[in-house]
Amino acid sequence: MIPPKPEARGDKVSLRQYMRLFRQDILSAQPARLYRAWMAEFRTPFFRSYLINQPDLVQTVLKDRPDDFPKSGRISEGLRPLLGNSVFLTNGEVWKRQRRIIDPAFEGGRLRDTFGAMWAASQAAVARLDGQVGQAVEIEEVTSHAAADVIFRTLFSIPIEHEVAARVFTRFREYQREQPILNIAAFIPLPRWFPRFFSRRTRETAAEIRALITGLTAARMDEIKAGTAPDDLATKIMTTRDPQTGETFSINEMVDQVAIFFLAGHETSASALAWTLYLMALYPDWQEKVAAEAQALDVYDFSAASRLKISRDVFRETLRLYPPVPMMVREASCPESFRDRQVPKGAQLVLSPWHLHRHERLWENPDGFDPDRWQTENGKTCQRNAYIPFSAGPRVCTGAGFAMIEGPLILSMILLRFRVERIAGRDPVPVAHLTVRSRDGIWLRLTHR
Ligand code: HEM
Repeated sequence: MIPPKPEARGDKVSLRQYMRLFRQDILSAQPARLYRAWMAEFRTPFFRSYLINQPDLVQTVLKDRPDDFPKSGRISEGLRPLLGNSVFLTNGEVWKRQRRIIDPAFEGGRLRDTFGAMWAASQAAVARLDGQVGQAVEIEEVTSHAAADVIFRTLFSIPIEHEVAARVFTRFREYQREQPILNIAAFIPLPRWFPRFFSRRTRETAAEIRALITGLTAARMDEIKAGTAPDDLATKIMTTRDPQTGETFSINEMVDQVAIFFLAGHETSASALAWTLYLMALYPDWQEKVAAEAQALDVYDFSAASRLKISRDVFRETLRLYPPVPMMVREASCPESFRDRQVPKGAQLVLSPWHLHRHERLWENPDGFDPDRWQTENGKTCQRNAYIPFSAGPRVCTGAGFAMIEGPLILSMILLRFRVERIAGRDPVPVAHLTVRSRDGIWLRLTHR
């Protein structure tokens, strides 16, 4: 059985139909030809956008000339009230400065220090699941909880049960329900003069989340000054000086970054883990291989992460089939000529991990689940040229290395203790708003191993 794939729409639809489809799901709103095309153009009366699949053009935009293709401002509309001036939204010098301060906290050496917190979160997730054996479990809920726990433990040394952490988690969910993040404005941009409204509720929820995070950050600043701060990611980021200016983040700037770590770090990892667990139920032979690898572990320290090779290949293959961030949008800051087409200044460039990862002219067996592919020539070539679940280039996901430890670890720990099974008639249907989720959740049944 092929893993679930949304049905593509027909080739010709009106703008009105496209907008309607897009609101339901950005994946099924796209035509099937995008799985074969190198580049596709969308023209409307207001704007032009181009989807780019050709590997060397993807490289031009993300790696070779990223300054000429800044992040499109349109995509951030829904996020401003919550994220302020976070690294996810900024461009140019402000963004460069923020990355200089943040990046050292996520380097390999530091990741080693976060392992203990990730490990504790994986054990807590397994303990929570123990009570649900035999029942139908909505697994996205479980992975969302686990990923939020990882973020709070690694960033602020507090578990998700902590009063503030738990409130931030619940309020974030409300915010996302009210304000779908990858909103239609990115693809069907409204004219710039068109006013943007956020409901009072959206603003209030954003303000409440920010107040909670400000409390945590200010308390941490006091601990740093008193010399009593724990050695976690928050302390590392807040004490890192920009090598060019010598400045550290102010509390306000740190609040913006914490908000994005929480949002980018928890939604995405949760989505990837939930899809991985579903695929394990669909392919029990792979499930057994992951469990056997976990059983063979004798020490549970950072070195364990590098020994979970099968788990990593399985997780990597899930990120190919269900990239949590299905599309990214950039803007051409000057006129370009791509594949002999004139791309005007201001045009939106859509990079679609979803389509690139299933491109029929690049991948062997593009829609199949095959974790062994990463050892093949085709898999290795495609991993270099056509695999961008974390984006690529200087703007690559800050948490890529972090997520590639967290995901396989939690997966292995869950499968070490439980078997997961599909529930007849309840296979998931992928849909995408900000992240790739299932329309009606991902339902699995767990049994003890
Ligand atoms: C499986 C898990 C994850 C996936 C698939 C993922 C994917 C991505 C992608 C595709 C982007 C680029 C978006 C764009 O440029 O439009 C991104 C950016 C980002 N991610 Fe992740 N991410 C994951 C986990 C994390 C984690 C765990 C953290 C932090 C703890 C994190 C923090 C960030 C930040 C701060 C950015 C903005 C970087 C910038 O614009 O300079 N992500 N992520």
